[in-house]
Amino acid sequence: MQFSAIKADVTRIETAALVVNLYHGVQRPGGATGAVDAALDGQISELIADGEITGKPGEITIVHTNGRLPARRIVVVGLGKKQECTLETVRKATGSVTQRLLRHRITRFHTILHGGGDLETTGVATRDLAQAIAEAALLAGYRYDRWKTVEPEEEPGEPRDREKEELQSITIVESDGRKLPSIRAGLSRGGLLADAVNWTRDIGNGPPNEIYPAALAERARRLAEEHKLEIEILTRRELEKRRMGGILGVGQGSAHEPRLIILRYRRGGKSAPSVIVGKAITFDTGGISIKPSANMEEMKFDKMGGVAVLGIMRAVALLKLKINLIGIVPSAENMPSGTSYRPGDILTSYSGKTIEIINTDAEGRLVLADALTYACEQNPKEVIDLATLTGACVVALGHYASGAFGDERIVERLTHVGAFTGDRVWPLPLYDEYGDDMKSEVADIKNSGGRWGGASTAAAFLKFFVKKGVAWAHLDIAGTAWTTKTQPYHPIGATGAGVRVVTEYLAGR
Ligand code: BES
Ligand code: MN
Ligand code: ZN
Repeated sequence: MQFSAIKADVTRIETAALVVNLYHGVQRPGGATGAVDAALDGQISELIADGEITGKPGEITIVHTNGRLPARRIVVVGLGKKQECTLETVRKATGSVTQRLLRHRITRFHTILHGGGDLETTGVATRDLAQAIAEAALLAGYRYDRWKTVEPEEEPGEPRDREKEELQSITIVESDGRKLPSIRAGLSRGGLLADAVNWTRDIGNGPPNEIYPAALAERARRLAEEHKLEIEILTRRELEKRRMGGILGVGQGSAHEPRLIILRYRRGGKSAPSVIVGKAITFDTGGISIKPSANMEEMKFDKMGGVAVLGIMRAVALLKLKINLIGIVPSAENMPSGTSYRPGDILTSYSGKTIEIINTDAEGRLVLADALTYACEQNPKEVIDLATLTGACVVALGHYASGAFGDERIVERLTHVGAFTGDRVWPLPLYDEYGDDMKSEVADIKNSGGRWGGASTAAAFLKFFVKKGVAWAHLDIAGTAWTTKTQPYHPIGATGAGVRVVTEYLAGR
């Protein structure tokens, strides 16, 4: 995939498709769209006058030029009302256009810098616009088809030609040559971030018979080799030596043994490390407290917090951020069997604190308990965990924002960066009373606080294992980690939620 930026006049571009845009309510387009309209003898204005192009967000109109312009097609994408247009509007427009053009097997196209000249006057940097376009195009062009061996029905017998199916190149056409360096910097940054997200999606979409804890650890090892990260992988025996009773308890019902993966990235001199921790349950059946079978296949995505941590390590390495970062990924498979842990069991966590098991389906917090204790031993500057932790968070926020709990300063910054990146985060409360609901009659804490406020009681459980004084925040990505319907720049499957927002947070946005 090739991104480039050129100084040129849109009416002179030879391309399969040239993407321009339109705000809602504009009758006579100006700028690049106006120039194209003039060359088409006002065809676009006529379509607007007839109400066939409205400029509503997500609207895409393809006009063939029939030789009136060197571009074969003009693609007009709606950006909605000018005052409401944001970086996210640009991402969604770019994503929708990319998906549409790929359906028509157009894999190389040109586009103007959406929002250039307008968003810029409201303080959005040229570089960020270009980054948004690169990110959205690569994210929208993602496909997970590794396991498809039968050719699509539309072209029987035709050998597959990936050149015709996958995005090959996008060129930004800009009339102001002074903007080219910023555009190129943005394209490069967006390209790297999207690469890390798509890498995350690839592992995330991997089926649970392929991606079990030891296999995930091997992917982490390959990642570490590629980016010169330090890596440590604790096997079951090593977890036993360290008495990591949470990870061991959850993992004991499965034929696939658990692992703890630790990655270290050092480019920040002597500064204290940020630590990111991610839940990686490679499949969550619920264990003895077994889940209903409807949609259970989606529980292969219960590893996404941990996979996102690996993706963030990759993004940070690709961007060469000048920080110290430790990634900790506790991984297990939650299965029912004769060796499974049970409701009523009492586990002794790595911290020494004991946990009464009420429900074996509340397993994520158990592996995180050990990992958070380990994280707090690293003299961290801050600890951020990511986990597909609760169905309750999905009830609260749906699929368009991850829940954020804990340290107010971190949560506030994550919320801000979330809005900026479109990888959204929204604060939820963590009052002391939620901790009261987790009190056990027989152990130090129990692993389920019942039905109400489930996302917050889960966070309160995690907090019990965070050393006093450590700045810690928890992201519940249960509603955002995967999607079952196509979104403008998220195809069905793993989304890579958390990778962009946490990476940009670490980059100091
Ligand atoms: N992995 C699930 C949470 C989940 C459910 C994520 C649905 C995404 C969609 C987690 O391990 C779980 O089962 N949580 C329970 C906790 C309860 C037993 C206290 C839940 O949310 O119901
Ligand atoms: Mn569960
Ligand atoms: Zn789970």
